[in-house]
Amino acid sequence: MRQTPVYVTPEMHAVQQAATEAVLAHPDRPASYHIVTYGCQMNAHDSEKLAGMLARMGMTEAGDRRDADLVLFNTCCVRDNAERRALGNVTWLKELKKDKPNLIIGVCGCMVQQPEMAERILKQYRFIDLAFGTHNLHQLPSLLLELLEKKQRIVSVIDQENLIAEGLPLKRLCSHHAYITIMYGCDNFCSYCIVPYVRGRERSRRMDDILREAEGLLNGGVKEIMLLGQNVNSYGNGTDESFPELLRRLDVMGVPRIRFMTSHPKDLSDDLIDVMANSKHICNHLHLPVQSGSNEILRLMNRRYTREDYLRKVEKLRNAVPGIGLSTDLIVSFPGETEAQFEETCSLVREVGYDSAFTFIYSPRIGTKAAAMEGRIPEEESSRRIGQLIAEVEASTANAHRQMLGRTEQVLVEGLSKRDPGMVSGKGTRNITVTFKGTEADIGTIVPVHITSAAVNTLRGERTER
Ligand code: SAH
Ligand code: SF4
Ligand code: F3S
Repeated sequence: MRQTPVYVTPEMHAVQQAATEAVLAHPDRPASYHIVTYGCQMNAHDSEKLAGMLARMGMTEAGDRRDADLVLFNTCCVRDNAERRALGNVTWLKELKKDKPNLIIGVCGCMVQQPEMAERILKQYRFIDLAFGTHNLHQLPSLLLELLEKKQRIVSVIDQENLIAEGLPLKRLCSHHAYITIMYGCDNFCSYCIVPYVRGRERSRRMDDILREAEGLLNGGVKEIMLLGQNVNSYGNGTDESFPELLRRLDVMGVPRIRFMTSHPKDLSDDLIDVMANSKHICNHLHLPVQSGSNEILRLMNRRYTREDYLRKVEKLRNAVPGIGLSTDLIVSFPGETEAQFEETCSLVREVGYDSAFTFIYSPRIGTKAAAMEGRIPEEESSRRIGQLIAEVEASTANAHRQMLGRTEQVLVEGLSKRDPGMVSGKGTRNITVTFKGTEADIGTIVPVHITSAAVNTLRGERTER
């Protein structure tokens, strides 16, 4: 049963506004902050909200964590290594605190939202001053005020899973590319995944709120908007506000480039394919995580589609949107995965022909169904499988890149190339990185580039007229 979202009320916002002003006037207020972000785009966007709130409280951003009075870790827990990296870094800061006793160390995000994590932080990580979860991110001002006033550690995690906080201040990282979260949480409960437990129930923002935000960005000169959600295709809370309709409205509005992620294959509808085929501004790329090529593993993963369903949708999509690029997520060594089942994932990569893929070794997450399944694959075998799969993906990418030779790509320039002086790089609509000769003045503009060479990681080209 889908839950109705509960909006943070004007009264609750007023409490945070008052706290913001009180922190701003507080004599012990940190002067600067540094945010370290782990995880997905959703978390990156949450960090833009955290930065927005901190800026309103009068703090400036420190480029280096060593120069900051407040260091905030926005964490991820989707795999064990994501969690270990965050905690390793936090522990490193403990040392820094010896020389800088007033330093405030904060942690927030998905890792903190896990059951029993608050208790663990209180007991094991005594140098952490502030901790809050994903559902009360909007309470940062009042939590910080409490910390400053009581001069004691504040650990606050709430489990109200269906909240939506509109209107938070934002400090966007980039002026030409912007994220808009259109829905929060996830109800899919893939058996390996912790996200539904730490991000709560699926809930969608009102379409009017999203369109207003997009309009503001468009007026501010944004060139590309990426719509975010764990499963954007089920946007709408079961109302008549559907994802294809939202895309249609944004397309008509004239956002120069529209991207979105993530699409769950089971919810990729004909209507969506139709909108993509007929739109002017939706980029010709789709991230469509398949996870595995084996029907038995897909069943155990609770993905609710088969290899054949997936391939049919890919075919439909390619017929409707010629030249569309696909990327995916793949997991190896799910409990009980046989060699033959792993090979089916490799053969699926060859069959689909992806532009790129994120490859992961299955990581057991406490509380998920798969964590209790038998048949753990030994580490050595997992390393071999992931190595083989990466080689398959690289071959697929090389092939896709070769197909780009001789074409002209519209490249949104992101920045100066780090490796090649005198060159800039950015992404074409197919989401492949393109490098070409340019200067700082090109950043944030869309440049037509003729592709002249193709390597695994990048395409190279020359600026053309069209
Ligand atoms: N909602 C998105 C993204 C979820 S997290 C989606 O459905 O695709 C991003 C990716 O992390 C997933 O697609 C999956 O490939 C991977 N992942 C999630 N949980 C994992 C786990 N326990 N072990 C390994 N990889 C995992
Ligand atoms: Fe996790 Fe599955 Fe939801 Fe994606 S769709 S966030 S993989 S449960
Ligand atoms: Fe990680 Fe949370 Fe995103 S667990 S992948 S940061 S939703």
